[in-house]
Amino acid sequence: MKQQLEEIKLHALTALDAAADPAALEELRVKLLGKKGELTAVLKQMGKLSAEERPVMGQLANAVRAEIETKLEERKTALHAAALEAKLAAEAIDVTIPGDEVTMGHQHPMNMVLQEIKDIFVGMGYQVVDGPEIELASYNFTRLNIEEGHPSRDRSDTFYFNDDDSVLLRTQTSPMQIRAMENTKPPICILAPGRVFRKDEADATHSPMFHQIEGLVVGEDITMGDLKGALVTLMKRIYGQDALMRFRPHHFPFTEPSCEMDMQCHKCHGKGEVDGQVCSTCHGEGWIELLGAGMVHPVVLENCGIDPEKYSGFAFGMGLERMAMGRLRINDLRLIFDNDVRFLNQF
Ligand code: PHE
Repeated sequence: MKQQLEEIKLHALTALDAAADPAALEELRVKLLGKKGELTAVLKQMGKLSAEERPVMGQLANAVRAEIETKLEERKTALHAAALEAKLAAEAIDVTIPGDEVTMGHQHPMNMVLQEIKDIFVGMGYQVVDGPEIELASYNFTRLNIEEGHPSRDRSDTFYFNDDDSVLLRTQTSPMQIRAMENTKPPICILAPGRVFRKDEADATHSPMFHQIEGLVVGEDITMGDLKGALVTLMKRIYGQDALMRFRPHHFPFTEPSCEMDMQCHKCHGKGEVDGQVCSTCHGEGWIELLGAGMVHPVVLENCGIDPEKYSGFAFGMGLERMAMGRLRINDLRLIFDNDVRFLNQF
C-alpha cells in the first residue's frame, strides 16, 4: 500500500507539472482527489490493514494528499499568471507609434459663400427665413402674378406632384415673398435662401436643382434706389470694391419695373474670349447674370392684403451657385455638386 501511495504521488506530480491549462488541471484534480479518484480508492482499502499499520498509512495518505493539493494550487497560480501575461502581451499598445491622421472636414464652398451673404444682409437688418421646397402652384405662380398658361408653368419646365398641377417642387424662392407678406405686416425685410428645382439638363451653368436667395423689403417710401443700394453693397463686399456690375431692364410678372444684375466675367474680364477661344464661363458674353430684381408689383402686394397706395417694396432673387462661382472662381457648376474632395479641399 505504501508503494501504491508513492506511485500515485509520483504520477500525480508529473502529470500536474505537464498540465497545460486550467481545464487540464481540473480534470486531474477530479481524477486524483475526487470521490472516485485514485487516492480515495486506496484509502478504501485501509480496513484491511492491521491496527498498527492503519495510522501509519493514514498519515502517509494524508501527506500525499496534502502534497498533491499544494502542487495543484501552485500550478493553478502559475497557469493563471502565464495566461494573464499572454493576454497583456497580445493587447499591448505601443504609444510611440504615430497615430492615424484624422482628416478634418470643413464647410462646403457654397455654404461658405451663403454664410458670407447672410452675414452681409443680417448686418443691413434682414431676417433670414426658411420655407417649403414642396410648394403650392398658387404661391409659386398665381399669387406672384404668373397667369395660367405662362411658359414657366409648363410641365416641361416644372416638376409637378399631381394631375391638376396644384402642387410642385418650387421653381424659385419667390413664393417666400407671398409667405412673408401673408405672415407679417410691413415693414418687412427678409432673406430666404433655399433649394429650387427646374427640368434643366445639367451643364456648366445649369442643374435641375440649384439654390436661390430671395430678398424682400416692403415699407413706406421704398424705391429702386434702395434696391440698387442693397445689391451694390452686397456685391462690393463679396467681390471687392472694384468689381464691375451692371443693371439691365428685364421683365418679371411679379415686379414692375424689373431688372437683371450682371457681374463682369471673372475669367475673361469682360472680353468674352480667352486665348482666342470663346470664354467657357460666360459663353462669350463678358458678363455673368447674377440675379433678377425689381419693385414688387402692386397686384402682388394686393394679393397679400397690402395696400399698394401706402406701401412699396423691392425684391430680388439671386443664384447662389452663380455667386459662389464668381466668388471662388469656379468655372463649372457641376463641380459644386460632384463633391469630389480634390475639388473641395481647395477652399
Ligand atoms: N424669381 C426670379 C427667377 O427665378 C428672380 C426674381 C426674384 C426676380 C425677385 C425679381 C424679383 O428668375
